[in-house]
Amino acid sequence: MKTFPGHLKRLEEQGRYRSLSSEVRGVDLTSNDYLGLAGGDYLRESARRFFEEGGAVGSGASRLLRGHHEAHLELEAFAADYFGAERALFFASGFQANIALFQALPARGDVIVFDELVHASARQGIQASAAKHIKARHNDTQDFEDALKRAKELVSSGGQIWIAVESVYSMDGDFAPLESLYALAVAYDAVLIVDEAHGVGVCGPRGKGVSEVLVQAHGYERLITLHTCGKAIGVAGGLVCGSADVIEYLINTARGFIYSTAPMPVQAHLVQKSLEFIGSEEGRQRRQSLASVCDCVKLKLGGEGSHIVPIILGADEVALRTAAALQAAGYDIRAVRPPTVPEGTARLRLSLSANLTQAQMEQFVRDYNLLIP
Ligand SMILES: Cc1ncc(COP(=O)(O)O)c(C=O)c1O
Repeated sequence: MKTFPGHLKRLEEQGRYRSLSSEVRGVDLTSNDYLGLAGGDYLRESARRFFEEGGAVGSGASRLLRGHHEAHLELEAFAADYFGAERALFFASGFQANIALFQALPARGDVIVFDELVHASARQGIQASAAKHIKARHNDTQDFEDALKRAKELVSSGGQIWIAVESVYSMDGDFAPLESLYALAVAYDAVLIVDEAHGVGVCGPRGKGVSEVLVQAHGYERLITLHTCGKAIGVAGGLVCGSADVIEYLINTARGFIYSTAPMPVQAHLVQKSLEFIGSEEGRQRRQSLASVCDCVKLKLGGEGSHIVPIILGADEVALRTAAALQAAGYDIRAVRPPTVPEGTARLRLSLSANLTQAQMEQFVRDYNLLIP
């Protein structure tokens, strides 16, 4: 059997060796549980009731075989209505959904224009696709337009141009200029795919994501959204929303959907319960608490005011050292290093949640300033 000591040693020398730790360390500034739903009683109670009423644990097979349960169907109908799409399709994870989406939809002769900072799962899907692809500079609408001009020259007759972006970028916490990108999609007859992993539950007038306003204005005719369910939604999974055609096509061609055991029915049920919560008055209150924590941090540390605040420190060692000092002071904060972020931009990534208080964040800023002169 092949062994990997050389590679692992190199990672260690570069300070990029990663290991798993189950230790929970201090104030949570790391998880993506933005609304504090993941560990709360609401979802725990919903799970208990689901099983008390006889819900199955495992799905038993792929959705196209016997794995298709009522809970999946109910969630997808609920989610389509909730997000204002014709149809929705549920995957076991956002990673799996992104790969399925990009591998299945863009075909040979198509061109994908993607933001250079899209998530690894979208990159993997794009790489697996038979379509050509062009990288555009992060959030730079002029560069997107230049890339679309090139895409127009490359696309086959009858082919499709796709634009792939995130609504809130996972490592920088900045927002995509969705209105301008949508206008470009119209001008170049492209379809805009928006990964709402970090937007759903938190952004938009009713917490449906940054694209909520776009959907209200234009519908899903040239839009596809992916709502991952393991962050603000507090469960796990990925919901793809789009036109009936797109969803029907994915059911018939997406390998990650066809050849994979369906998600646990309870997972689908809990995602639905969570969306119900997010749409309720209590959900609005959680978003409001989170917004005040974000405002307080923005005031002290700058940034875009979103719930993801990068503190870019540059060298890996500086980020590691700073994270270690803050961990010792009682904060669960981690250094994020390449290849997750570009070389020379190692950082602390503050992930804010409705569970935090303004007082805790003010204390964090004081501690940070004391430790890092
Ligand atoms: C932007 C983005 N898309 C997709 C994913 C993958 O989602 P999941 O964690 O549900 O697999 C992530 C997760 O980190 C993400 O940040």
